[in-house]
Amino acid sequence: MYDLIVIGAGPGGYEAAFDAAERGMKTCLIEKDALGGTCLNRGCIPTKSLLHASSLYRAACEGERFGVLAENVSYDLQKIQERKNEVVGRLRTGIEGRAKKLKVEVRYGTGSIRDASHVVLRTAEGEEVLETARILIATGSVPAVPPIPGSTLPGVYTSDTLLSETKEIGRLTVIGGGVIGAEFACFYRDLGKEVTVIEALPQMLNGADRELSLSLKQLFTKRGISVHLSSLVSAIEEGSAGTLQVRFSEKEEEKTLETDAVLLAVGRRCFTEGLFEEGFSVKTERGRILVDENNETSVPSVYAIGDVTGGIMLAHAAAAEGQNAVAAMCGDPVRPDLSLVPSCIYTEPEIAFVGLSLAAAKECGIDADSKKALMGANGRTVIAEGERGFVRIVFEKESGRILGAQLMCERASDMVGELTEAIRLGVTVRELSRVIHPHPTFAEAIQEALKS
Ligand code: NAI
Repeated sequence: MYDLIVIGAGPGGYEAAFDAAERGMKTCLIEKDALGGTCLNRGCIPTKSLLHASSLYRAACEGERFGVLAENVSYDLQKIQERKNEVVGRLRTGIEGRAKKLKVEVRYGTGSIRDASHVVLRTAEGEEVLETARILIATGSVPAVPPIPGSTLPGVYTSDTLLSETKEIGRLTVIGGGVIGAEFACFYRDLGKEVTVIEALPQMLNGADRELSLSLKQLFTKRGISVHLSSLVSAIEEGSAGTLQVRFSEKEEEKTLETDAVLLAVGRRCFTEGLFEEGFSVKTERGRILVDENNETSVPSVYAIGDVTGGIMLAHAAAAEGQNAVAAMCGDPVRPDLSLVPSCIYTEPEIAFVGLSLAAAKECGIDADSKKALMGANGRTVIAEGERGFVRIVFEKESGRILGAQLMCERASDMVGELTEAIRLGVTVRELSRVIHPHPTFAEAIQEALKS
């Protein structure tokens, strides 16, 4: 008899299991694949490892203007993959170590919920029924495959399959100008490949502030990535000599593009396959599991967190929701603030945003204004010859309270933490401008923005 069974060992599931164990709960963590889930095995970590390598390659190629001369610079995709696997392996060992230390029982197999207190564990050896006081569903999401004819042709990838590809791809067409599309586009472009992004909406990074989307489009164009907005793909067809033809309409004009590979990056769908035994279910809406403010589903003592609940599909959001669910199970009133989740995109320069944009604040009826610093005047950016970028801070006019921030600059993913904290604590522009930032740093731009 367990106090808690967690199904799915991604960052949401394993962090929740560790948290529960630390609070004295007898916890079982069920995983059908590898510890770490999408984030560690097919998402955040491996993509950042690839991007680190491609960025180093580009820096080596462009080192001359810094006085660094390198001849015959090349890369080895096999070695880039090996390095990525080493990083993933090392982090996975860390998770295994924590599970052992906290006495979380890790069971490999498929977990299927029979009722609120029983989970059927299926493995190659057979099945076993586990009894528990509570269940936490953390089964995540998988890449969505759009109903475009030709989506399953050879040479058409999802992020899962492209991530491990060691074959050279000369021309890559990315369908979807969201986060995944943008990061893969950067990786292949850094390696000198011909990259095209086709996005259905009039802007990239749907959901991000317009200024960020526009700046990313400009950056991509400058880097030689071809971006087609308001463009709908109607079919992918086989071309000659192993190539593919992508048919799409751009502002009502029919176009065809020849390419060597296609990445489908059109979003992710919640994963619940095989999760419920016949006769049991929880309330869902378009595939996502519905939860309340405790992350409890429509069935008492069955909780759900992370991608499987829809919403913001980010590792740190899933981990915070897990913390929220476990705190609720224990009656702990100290909960994470789930209303404030920073987003980061690991392009170069990085993009990060949190809270409200100026447009969103105005839509909410808030009398808001913003302050902005251009990175062109920032010392570290000049040293690194960083791209044009900015830090924008949105605040309520009357109180000066900081409401949101949008950043496009080097280390934006690290800098957004300070601004998230400021928003969370209700800090005003005046208060934050009293904080001394070290010089020279990229983060000084926050102070520069506040002074503007
Ligand atoms: P997304 O929802 O961010 O972007 C998908 C894009 O595809 C949208 O802009 C959509 O308009 C477009 N699209 C859909 N159908 C299309 C079609 N037929 N033709 C052209 N465009 C089409 O989804 P994405 O990039 O796949 O990412 C999935 C999730 O993973 C997101 O929730 C994201 O937050 C998360 N993620 C986060 C990362 C990060 O924080 N750095 C990295 C990778 C993923």
